[in-house]
Amino acid sequence: MSILRVEDVVSGYGSMEVLHGVSLGVEEGQIVSLLGPNGSGKTTLLRTVFGILSPWKGKIYFKGEDISGIAAERIARIGMGYVPQEENIFPSLTVQENLEMGAFIREDDWQPRLEEVYELFPDLTDRRKSRAGELSGGMRQMLAIGRALMLNPELLLLDEPSTGLAPRLVDAIFERIVKLKEQGVTVFLVEQNAQALQIPDKAYILEGGEKKAEGGAQELLEDAEIGRLYLGR
Ligand SMILES: Nc1ncnc2c1ncn2[C@@H]1O[C@H](COP(=O)(O)OP(=O)(O)O)[C@@H](O)[C@H]1O
Ligand SMILES: [Mg+2]
Repeated sequence: MSILRVEDVVSGYGSMEVLHGVSLGVEEGQIVSLLGPNGSGKTTLLRTVFGILSPWKGKIYFKGEDISGIAAERIARIGMGYVPQEENIFPSLTVQENLEMGAFIREDDWQPRLEEVYELFPDLTDRRKSRAGELSGGMRQMLAIGRALMLNPELLLLDEPSTGLAPRLVDAIFERIVKLKEQGVTVFLVEQNAQALQIPDKAYILEGGEKKAEGGAQELLEDAEIGRLYLGR
């Protein structure tokens, strides 16, 4: 079953149309990647899915429910998590405080979840009391993901978690993403980096606000024309 369905979505800012009718689906339990060059509309798509922007046209379904135009906080409450590309942590707060902030809309006991997040990111455990602003880039990304996980999302939207990281750290982040999938979290991973084709079950390519290709990750990796046109190879 598709946990997320985007149907013919048109969206943008002010009078500038960025997405010109994009359709895609994310199957439950999978990692699905969206790749595309800078400025292709990847972040705009995530903002529209998560309710930060309203689609001008088209529909978005989450777990079969039409969520088009619904506010982000409500979408978060029904099981979608979003890790933005930038400003995804509070640098002046500690690691622990950042994770606690992630749970702010939870009314139940989230302490056990905090321990689970520390188990997934053991490096963060040793830095509980450090200010988030003092962490390395890789650790900040893990913290940002950890914050979103505090709400136990069924679907996690990740906007370029590998940006600015050395290849070894990119692998470390991707390993955790695979682990999340093993724990039952569905992941929609937006990346510019073709390295992101190593882990997904399925991938889409976006350019100029339009879907240019879709298929199995291996299939897209082996397609020389796609590599040349969209993945900078
Ligand atoms: N807040 C904004 N206001 C106006 N235009 C924006 C805004 N954010 C992005 N854009 C424009 O929308 C287009 C797509 O941007 P974006 O979705 O961020 O692409 P990507 O994430 O693929 O790099 C770009 O032309 C960008 O300049
Ligand atoms: Mg972006």
